[in-house]
Amino acid sequence: MNTARTDDFIRNRIKNGKQGGMPAFAVMFNDADIDRIIAYIRALKPQED
Ligand code: HEM
Repeated sequence: MNTARTDDFIRNRIKNGKQGGMPAFAVMFNDADIDRIIAYIRALKPQED
């Protein structure tokens, strides 16, 4: 939420993960899936009190 990361960074992280940090999801998600995941992440907003 509110990340300064670029779409390309997020796409790469989801596809390839990070050694010792996050598993890769390229087997589960194709590029169209990842586009939708990024759109979802971009739509997330902090709770307003
Ligand atoms: C077993 C499941 C998962 C684990 C254990 C996991 C773990 C992690 C960890 C530890 C990081 C930080 C890596 C670093 O040091 O930079 C990370 C980053 C990230 N994860 Fe996951 N993750 C999981 C699933 C997912 C899924 C399902 C998605 C989205 C579909 C996702 C998207 C991301 C993204 C976009 C980042 C980068 C955030 C940033 O650096 O700004 N992760 N994940």
